[in-house]
Amino acid sequence: MGATFWNLAVLMILVAVSICLKPATSDPQINLLNQGCSQYNATNTRNFFNNLNATFADLRNQLSQQNKLFATAQQSRSSDPVYAMVQCRDYVSSADCVACFNAAVAQIRNCSAANGARVIYDGCFLRYESNNFYDQSTLPGNVQICSNRTASQATIFGAEAQALLKDLQLATPRINGYFAASKRQVSPDVSVYGVAQCAETISESGCEDCLTVGYGNIQGCLPNADGRAIDAGCFLRYSQTSFFPDNQTTNITPFLGGGKSSKKKAIIGGVVGGAGLLMVMVALALYLWYRLHRKPKAAQKGNILGATELQGPVTYNFNVLKTATNNFSEESKLGEGGFGEVYKGALKNGTIVAVKKLNITSGRAKANFESEAKLISNVHHRNLIRLLGCASKGPELLLVHEYMANGSLDRYLYGDKKGYLNWKQRFDIIFGTARGLAYLHDQYHVSIIHRDIKPSNILLDDDFQPKICDFGLARLMPEDRSHLSTKFAGTLGYTAPEYAIHGHLSEKVDTYSFGVVVLEIISGRRSSDMTIEPVSEYLLEQAWKLYENDMHLKLVDATLDPNDYRTEDMKKILEIALICTQSQPSDRPTMSEVVVMLSSERSSEQQRPIRTAVIGSERRFRNISESTETTSSTSNATASFTDFTGR
Ligand SMILES: *[C@@H]1O[C@H](CO)[C@@H](O)[C@H](O)[C@H]1NC(C)=O
Ligand SMILES: *[C@@H]1O[C@H](CO)[C@@H](O)[C@H](O)[C@H]1NC(C)=O
Ligand SMILES: *[C@@H]1O[C@H](CO)[C@@H](O)[C@H](O)[C@H]1NC(C)=O
Ligand SMILES: *[C@@H]1O[C@H](CO)[C@@H](O)[C@H](O)[C@H]1NC(C)=O
Ligand SMILES: *[C@@H]1O[C@H](CO)[C@@H](O)[C@H](O)[C@H]1NC(C)=O
Repeated sequence: MGATFWNLAVLMILVAVSICLKPATSDPQINLLNQGCSQYNATNTRNFFNNLNATFADLRNQLSQQNKLFATAQQSRSSDPVYAMVQCRDYVSSADCVACFNAAVAQIRNCSAANGARVIYDGCFLRYESNNFYDQSTLPGNVQICSNRTASQATIFGAEAQALLKDLQLATPRINGYFAASKRQVSPDVSVYGVAQCAETISESGCEDCLTVGYGNIQGCLPNADGRAIDAGCFLRYSQTSFFPDNQTTNITPFLGGGKSSKKKAIIGGVVGGAGLLMVMVALALYLWYRLHRKPKAAQKGNILGATELQGPVTYNFNVLKTATNNFSEESKLGEGGFGEVYKGALKNGTIVAVKKLNITSGRAKANFESEAKLISNVHHRNLIRLLGCASKGPELLLVHEYMANGSLDRYLYGDKKGYLNWKQRFDIIFGTARGLAYLHDQYHVSIIHRDIKPSNILLDDDFQPKICDFGLARLMPEDRSHLSTKFAGTLGYTAPEYAIHGHLSEKVDTYSFGVVVLEIISGRRSSDMTIEPVSEYLLEQAWKLYENDMHLKLVDATLDPNDYRTEDMKKILEIALICTQSQPSDRPTMSEVVVMLSSERSSEQQRPIRTAVIGSERRFRNISESTETTSSTSNATASFTDFTGR
């Protein structure tokens, strides 16, 4: 009996093994097509890798537990956020998808400290970045990958493959899940197989754009036997060899005709007819050409090849800048910031620029200078000052910025132009500053924490729109010591307590400073000035006290015309400023959330600012615990009393 049992067991194992090893059904298709690392390293690699590992675990879980073939995962609530995405081709089995993902994870670890990377296999695609890239469709770096193999019956194969790819390009954006696989018979013994796929997180038009570019690229491979087109948001592949099971094909016919665009064409054709048709065709051709050539330029944020390959800044000759600033003369000096003196300069072509002389001495910072300058010079946002170029070869490190004739905000709040700005201008400055910071934190491909937001770092253009300056420079400072040096890290009065005391750095440090600046903009007062009457207090302390007594409108600058603003709006913005300055970083909103709050109507759901754990409220906290104690001892007393009488 024992022997029969073992025979049976061995037989079952053999059957199981033979099922698992069946070659045609199991292939994760780990053929590496493309990989790349971003050029920038995460600010805090330990945090970053913790987050990265957590997102990978999350992705693996979604693939293996929920049998998903597409997943995103993120750890975004920290200063080193990670956004990750994995996508398997839909014809791959769930187990193969996990296998392909595991291979990609091992491969992507080669990127060491980089804050972005991607690996593209035939079977799957894995990417992570420090910013949210889920909506990216087509990016510079999109490319075709062709095999050298010549196809049999090349001419007819090429024509049939092109027709198939065109149909896939048209149909896939309209198919739920953005995936299509199709096969066509070229001749009795030759077929063409093709797939098209978009990331599920992009829009239908994003998918269309990406596949239009991909279709343009992959045609370069025809009539060879195999070709692929890769891009950030989509994938196209064709081959003479079967690379997916026949029973995995999609019926794409229903998605080919009757779409929006072809309907429109039919109507136009019917109306104009004849000679008009030619013009329409020309117009369409021009339109397609425009779409093909415009798209890659429109999205220069990240580059799928080398995740974040950036353009370098313009290099200026040191002596040219020396001449432009009159030998860095006192007369051309505009001011002095945390990182050095700033001079006004006139270039030969008449352009007026601001030249910053960096007082950086550390060798490491000097070594990083060029990569940081490259990083900063690629930041393009209307509320962030443009870096035009730099000079790194001379005796000093120089940065060349656009020049803002109206100078900085401090001048208009409590300098020689005090009382000049009306409410609309002040609101625009608040809103623009929030948008600039939200861009630096969440939308640029490297999360940049400013660390020193204050009115003298907010410049005003000719229309009094704000432009934040000095961002990115704090990254040149040694990580662990920057907060200790008042010169670089924030200025007293604007600096979040956790950063000033413990050096804990996160985007919320900027949220805090932003809140203080908003209070200054509304009150026209310096945060570090004390009031004398009725009691001596700093601006922030006073704002909280007035708010707690629902008297915060008292804070508003007396030079503002009360007819210029609605008191409800003013209250809302004051409360947003206070929410930003809450002592717990986790209680403060992100700057993207602040932008949403500022642009929406005040609603009853709006969060209420709550003051916690600051010196003033400690007493209140103790009162509460005292009263709890009192209650419990009272009930104890009651209980024993009952006990006593019961006896
Ligand atoms: C990023 O880190 C790697 C290794 O940790 C180093 O080789 C590389 O030079 C760093 N890159 C930059 C731009 O700092
Ligand atoms: C992340 O995972 C990799 C691979 O398992 C491991 O080598 C590394 O130590 C982990 N890093 C952190 C910060 O947990
Ligand atoms: C990346 O890492 C994998 C796995 O450790 C290794 O096999 C591969 O050769 C590495 N590739 C490069 C380009 O370093
Ligand atoms: C294509 O063929 C050429 C010459 O035979 C060879 O050098 C090249 O590496 C091949 N490319 C690929 C992708 O196989
Ligand atoms: C496709 O065919 C394979 C065998 O060739 C089979 O194992 C699989 O279950 C089929 N899949 C579907 C969706 O019918």
